[in-house]
Amino acid sequence: MDLYEYQAKDIFANYGVPVLPGAVAATADEARAAAEELGVPVVVKAQVKTGGRGKAGGVKLADNPDETQEKAEGILGLDIKGHVVRRVLVTPASDIAEEYYFSFLLDRANRTFLAMASVEGGMDIEEVAATKPEALAKVPVDAINGVDLAKAQEIVKAANFPAEVADQVAEVIVKLWDGFVGEDATLVEVNPLVRDPQGKIIALDGKVTLDDNAAFRHETHADLVDKGAEDPLEAAAKAKDLNYVKLDGQVGIIGNGAGLVMSTLDVVAYAGERHGGAKPANFLDIGGGASAEVMANGLEIILSDADVKSVFVNVFGGITACDAVANGIVSAFQLLESRGEAVTRPIVVRLDGNNAEEGRRILTEAALPGLVQVKTMDEAADKAAELAAQGA
Ligand SMILES: Nc1ncnc2c1ncn2[C@@H]1O[C@H](COP(=O)(O)OP(=O)(O)OP(=O)(O)O)[C@@H](O)[C@H]1O
Ligand SMILES: [Mg+2]
Repeated sequence: MDLYEYQAKDIFANYGVPVLPGAVAATADEARAAAEELGVPVVVKAQVKTGGRGKAGGVKLADNPDETQEKAEGILGLDIKGHVVRRVLVTPASDIAEEYYFSFLLDRANRTFLAMASVEGGMDIEEVAATKPEALAKVPVDAINGVDLAKAQEIVKAANFPAEVADQVAEVIVKLWDGFVGEDATLVEVNPLVRDPQGKIIALDGKVTLDDNAAFRHETHADLVDKGAEDPLEAAAKAKDLNYVKLDGQVGIIGNGAGLVMSTLDVVAYAGERHGGAKPANFLDIGGGASAEVMANGLEIILSDADVKSVFVNVFGGITACDAVANGIVSAFQLLESRGEAVTRPIVVRLDGNNAEEGRRILTEAALPGLVQVKTMDEAADKAAELAAQGA
């Protein structure tokens, strides 16, 4: 889960990383009140989970409460790379002597953690990385050894931080590492980390990504979920423990195994080119079990998406044999009917692998309304796309 800047800074503050005070406002009036309380000048900052806010006009300086209201009005509702701004952070404007960059992240390719630091921080670290890679220090961090003061000093040295801030930055780096580990984050980024004219180091911006797989050991993380911004179908799927991602096409997809589902998305998108541009409506991996209940829950979620015109169930029987999956599908139809949500849209099923013959026989015998069986994945994708195009 990605956090908003204000949430990231709350975490920073809990670990002793110096940040500025701030108030979150959902309306221009609230922003004005925040400026009156904090004292001007302030900076009004769009709270969206994407980068490049400043360049998109989402970060503005305001010299007085009137101007704060005006700037907040302009920023609220703004669309920044597909993210609509629903809240702004109002925070005191800081004088800035220098802007640095710092992050900890999970370096999957090298199976380690990585510290990245640069004295050329500010808005465009991607550009620094591309055009002046030597100005961006990359220091691997061993998961067991972590970051103590000595390691932090090594990072500070690698990035060439000026001597007068070196000790302070090193201390901040240790605290950021404590937060990174303590909250089970996969990313902690500060851009800019600034030196103010008095020589004090402050985290002016913050990005944190939490590892959802560790959510079970952080009771407080559930409160960080922005319920208002959650897709209702994704939220419903999550409540049912389904691995579901909403997409914007018309062919509902159910498969067993993430790899199979990913390739199902590809073949459906490809087939859709022959059928009026039909596209996958979702990703849904029902995993190994494929019990009737999981199948019913999956179908229920997919069919409650009004955009879905057909569904493609693509199962390769492995440990779970196809006859069990077929029985699951039959019971899912009954279960949905008993819930008053009888399946009325066409379902294309492709069963292959362990006990496929028996699975197909069970489905043929059950003669479920609107269900067609197709033997190969490509042909099934084509059929599902064709039915979606007809239903559209
Ligand atoms: N409190 C502040 N006081 C003064 N200047 C600020 C303050 N907050 C941000 N700025 C200035 O605005 C610039 C952009 O702010 P910030 O880093 O928060 O957003 P961004 O970099 O555009 O967004 P993102 O980090 O999401 O890409 C900073 O580099 C800094 O120069
Ligand atoms: Mg930034």
